[in-house]
Amino acid sequence: LPLNGKKVLITAGPTHEAIDPVRYLGNKSTGTMGFELAKKAADLGAQVFLIAGPTALTVAHHSISLIRVTSAEEMYQAVHQRFATVNIAIGAAAVADYRPKEIAVQKIKKKSDAPLTLALERTKDILADMGKQKVHQYVVGFALESQDGLKNAKIKLQKKNLDAIVLNSLEDSGAGFGSNTNKVTFIDKNLVVKAFNLKAKSEVASDIWAEIIQRIDA
Ligand code: C5P
Repeated sequence: LPLNGKKVLITAGPTHEAIDPVRYLGNKSTGTMGFELAKKAADLGAQVFLIAGPTALTVAHHSISLIRVTSAEEMYQAVHQRFATVNIAIGAAAVADYRPKEIAVQKIKKKSDAPLTLALERTKDILADMGKQKVHQYVVGFALESQDGLKNAKIKLQKKNLDAIVLNSLEDSGAGFGSNTNKVTFIDKNLVVKAFNLKAKSEVASDIWAEIIQRIDA
């Protein structure tokens, strides 16, 4: 099998950033794309660390270690602990870009009718960190863009020092969050571009792995 002996790390799903004991900031990611990539990698012979934010999904495969986390910081720590040991890493998670600067110890009570302002701070960029740390690893990111997709994905690829990036366009219907289908474009670090049709996320996972395998073998 093409991924025999390879260790793969995949981040998946959203993150939840606590506001107080009962509230959080989140997003609509379901984790489907990351879980499909993990299953495909395992079927292709890899040993997989699947680091997933809060998701209803589950997976049972003897080659997949599922590590569940909640926040961007926890996801960062889980990735950091394992990154040096893997051959390939894919950032498929929709990591929060900001988190509340302070987590209230008690549930925040409504006071007057005045607006409430939450101060936010940046989270760590887990993928950019992998791009910085990488030695032999092949690192792949995702880009979800609402406009100028190709241009922004290429900028992201270079800025985060990735080997490839998978663009999902918000301009394509049936693609992205909450859908079982996706339409992606694979772009490698030499800026070779391959566009795929809209298809089931499980098939998209096969396409992405075919592109990666072709490049790590070369
Ligand atoms: O910069 P942007 O968020 O658009 O980049 C998206 C890519 O970066 C995705 O692969 C996502 O998993 C990753 N990312 C990350 N940590 C963050 C933000 C994004 O790993 N804090």
